[in-house]
Amino acid sequence: MFMLARRWPLSPVVWPGYPRKNQARAIQRGMGEVLLRLAEWGVGTGQRGAMLRLPDEPDLALDAAVSLLASVQAGGGQGHEERVVTLAIALAQAAGLSAPQVRAVRWGAALHDLGKLRVPGELLEKAGPLSAGERALLQQHPAWGAELLSPLPLPAAAVAAVRHHHERWDGGGYPAGLRRGRIPLAARIVAVADVFDALVSSRPYKPAWCEREAARVILRGAGSQFDPHLARLFVSEVLGFRDLQP
Ligand SMILES: [Fe+2]
Repeated sequence: MFMLARRWPLSPVVWPGYPRKNQARAIQRGMGEVLLRLAEWGVGTGQRGAMLRLPDEPDLALDAAVSLLASVQAGGGQGHEERVVTLAIALAQAAGLSAPQVRAVRWGAALHDLGKLRVPGELLEKAGPLSAGERALLQQHPAWGAELLSPLPLPAAAVAAVRHHHERWDGGGYPAGLRRGRIPLAARIVAVADVFDALVSSRPYKPAWCEREAARVILRGAGSQFDPHLARLFVSEVLGFRDLQP
């Protein structure tokens, strides 16, 4: 069973014709491998990981696995991941995505910064400018997160959102420098939600911005940093700023 999960690590949640109980077992074993990899990074999951017993229903099992990983990632932080999830779901729904697509966006948004668990804490909290080496290290986090998740049979779009949430519409992002429609849709959605929430949150290097000013930044980034359609949809439909100018 485990080999099945390894061979198609990015397959849909449900493997057609395969007994659901065995799917749940594969998710359980995949999650065991993810927790081992986290331990190799020096990240402890304590009781939550040790006592982990996922539900027998595959979709619920994946939901539980994502919740556990999201809570480890947040580490008692200020709720950034939860807010990005809420905003990304709202944008995905406004864009007319199907229920399975919205679910993939939700999981991708919840886990988008998972790879930061491998980045030294001092670097994440550094108030001053980063050196080139520090920036290169930090910019590994999307790929590290996606690779960490490979034992779990998550939808491909969810893992793509993790791997590509720092791509830019104009191709100037990372890790792959993808442009425009080549950036997976779920990643384009998470990118808008992630940047907006970062702007309205206080960080060691900046104060929190008001929503209106942050929305202007999103509009100014339409067609350069962000998918222009999604950026405008986010500001008008998710935030409700219908007549806002950049
Ligand atoms: Fe990130």
